[in-house]
Amino acid sequence: MNAIPPSTLPSGISRILIDRESLLNRIDEMGDRVSRDFKESDLCIVPVMDGGMIFAADLMRAINLPVTLAPVKASSYGDATTSSGTVSLAWGIPEKIRGKDLLLVDDILDTGRTLGILASRLRDAGAASVRTCVLLRKESAGHLAADYVGFKIPDVFVVGYGLDLAGYYRNLPFIGIPEEEE
Ligand code: IMP
Ligand code: MG
Repeated sequence: MNAIPPSTLPSGISRILIDRESLLNRIDEMGDRVSRDFKESDLCIVPVMDGGMIFAADLMRAINLPVTLAPVKASSYGDATTSSGTVSLAWGIPEKIRGKDLLLVDDILDTGRTLGILASRLRDAGAASVRTCVLLRKESAGHLAADYVGFKIPDVFVVGYGLDLAGYYRNLPFIGIPEEEE
């Protein structure tokens, strides 16, 4: 899937794991699937900021239904490449999720802590239903599931397409592996 020769990779990136075309093709399929599944629903997209925003923006445009948008801001990682084990919710829960069928959208399912905590907080806050959608799912997610998964990937630290390393690389239009990971 590596369409870009290594010599033209952005600095700090050693390899492309999933290229842009593969991402967009898969997101189109996911959008079709969501459009079918939520036909009778009052769908509200809930991107998990900051990492979920890039994926959610493309996914929304692949959904062929009226939707609303209610971002939440969570973070479970500091500047390290391993989980800090805490999830903080900086903006609280948006009032407009009450009574809606939510699709919680994040970049990656790793330990599942972020989505697990957010889903139960949203249910408690009066969502009609909560389903989860991730672009990537790591092997380390074990038995944990999301309702919609774009790609299953090995347990490597990845960046791009919303995913960061110390705040950088979110804007890369592909999923890549940083040099320090290899
Ligand atoms: P979880 O709560 O352990 O499932 O972690 C999910 C969050 O951790 C995601 O929203 C990401 O922000 C972050 N994360 C997990 N794996 C990676 C990675 O490989 N690269 C960048 N961020 C990651
Ligand atoms: Mg994140």
